[in-house]
Amino acid sequence: MPESLLVRIEDLHKSFPGVHALKGARFDLRPGEVHALMGENGAGKSTLMKVLAGIYTRDSGTVLLDGQPIDIHTPHQAQKLGIGIIHQELNLMNHLTAAQNVFIGREPKGLMGLFLDEKKLNDDTAKLLAMLKVDVDPKTLIGGLTVAKQQMVEIAKALSFESRVLIMDEPTAALNDAEIDELFRIIRELKAKGVGIVYISHKMDELKRISDRVTVMRDGEYVGTLNTQEATMEQVISMMVGRPLQNYVRKDQNMDANPVALEVKGLNRGRALRDINFKLRQGEILGFAGLMGAGRTEVARAVFGADPVDSGEILVKGKKVTVKIPRDAVQAGIGYLSEDRKRYGLALGMDVQANTVMATIGRFLHLGTFLKKKPMADVAEKYINTLSIKTPSQEQLLKFLSGGNQQKVVIAKWLLRDCDILFFDEPTRGIDVGAKFEIYKLIQDLATQGKAIVMISSELPEVLRLSHRIVVMCEGRITGELSAAEATQERIMHLATLRSAAM
Ligand SMILES: Nc1ncnc2c1ncn2[C@@H]1O[C@H](COP(=O)(O)OP(=O)(O)OP(=O)(O)O)[C@@H](O)[C@H]1O
Ligand SMILES: [Mg+2]
Repeated sequence: MPESLLVRIEDLHKSFPGVHALKGARFDLRPGEVHALMGENGAGKSTLMKVLAGIYTRDSGTVLLDGQPIDIHTPHQAQKLGIGIIHQELNLMNHLTAAQNVFIGREPKGLMGLFLDEKKLNDDTAKLLAMLKVDVDPKTLIGGLTVAKQQMVEIAKALSFESRVLIMDEPTAALNDAEIDELFRIIRELKAKGVGIVYISHKMDELKRISDRVTVMRDGEYVGTLNTQEATMEQVISMMVGRPLQNYVRKDQNMDANPVALEVKGLNRGRALRDINFKLRQGEILGFAGLMGAGRTEVARAVFGADPVDSGEILVKGKKVTVKIPRDAVQAGIGYLSEDRKRYGLALGMDVQANTVMATIGRFLHLGTFLKKKPMADVAEKYINTLSIKTPSQEQLLKFLSGGNQQKVVIAKWLLRDCDILFFDEPTRGIDVGAKFEIYKLIQDLATQGKAIVMISSELPEVLRLSHRIVVMCEGRITGELSAAEATQERIMHLATLRSAAM
């Protein structure tokens, strides 16, 4: 029954220079449903939704809203029609308040339309936030809020347009479990009000939790749509990647005989890190598990010299090193792939090749001035291939790559630095299932080559699958260590919730 559809998209095509991003894509949305949109990095999910939201103009194809063909050319038009989008990378102005962000460009005016009616602005925003039961002061600056709260403000903004269609592009990528619960509560309330929600995510478990239907895209094309309750994960994955994934088996090797690559002794930083001690051996993958905020990222940042510490020693191959700033760490052979994409130091306005070689540019200088073009191109090519980075060429600007592919460039950049000790912090966040397996294999290959690796991940199956040994943290302390053989989800969770009082 087409008339019961809120949105119907048919045979949509969209090209960018060198990229045919959408090739006959299809999608539909019913009122009051959560329709998940899945596909590998670069499949065209964000592009399709940006067309619906008026950010990109389609080359050809049909978009129907309530059965009526529409032709949207600007985000403003889309908003007026009740189509709201919450972007993969949030789009808020950090220097404005929550209320100013919600009403940007259409602030209520008082006094003959000349002056901004600040009170109305804040009151209206407070009402929207209260409707969502979100605890944010309309007057707080956006930049000071957590990502979760920023997202709530984005949702409030979408609701202020009375959106009937709400697109969420990887909304939970940077949220912790409690924040995800909160978001899902809001999604359920919106559903009950008849809002249709498009939900883009790489997290398979969220499918069953929140979505009613799932549509899979591959290479800009429509693959199929399933009712989530009837679908199996394997089905969805094989639709996404178009091939069966090779199942990865960990070798339960004990690395105790290998030489110690890194030793951390008595690391302390306020309440964030309390007496952290661990050893990491050559060829070993050491998993760091724990709940959000347990201090895993803080350990990595401290060892890498990104945060100052109160006390502690770092030994590389048995020799004490002084790490005050990240450059000291890199010189000692320690690399850190940060979890925070914004701080990854990618130059979005530069191309893939430049971003790949940027940190090691010295290697490509001839006589100190001329860049050796061929070696740079070769190296970039190599990483594009090994990491399956989806880009039409090395000359593509980074901002035109899909989110997951940008992340792979970060990995390439660090691999090129050739550090012996690598901290991977949430390396597969925002990365599709197929590419996740590639990254697992890569981390494993690096270990086999003798690199020492710390793997921080909030996804327990991932830590379990890869690590030779697992350190568990809670509230800034190491609460236990498990060998691969002893580690189970239950044991890890037990240690991850061992608060100091119980110790
Ligand atoms: N503005 C643009 N200019 C050039 N190419 C683009 C642009 N936007 C997207 N692309 C390309 O279109 C393809 C689809 O990208 P899109 O961002 O839609 O993927 P996605 O499915 O959202 O992936 P991800 O899961 O990584 O976010 C990719 O090859 C991407 O590089
Ligand atoms: Mg995307």
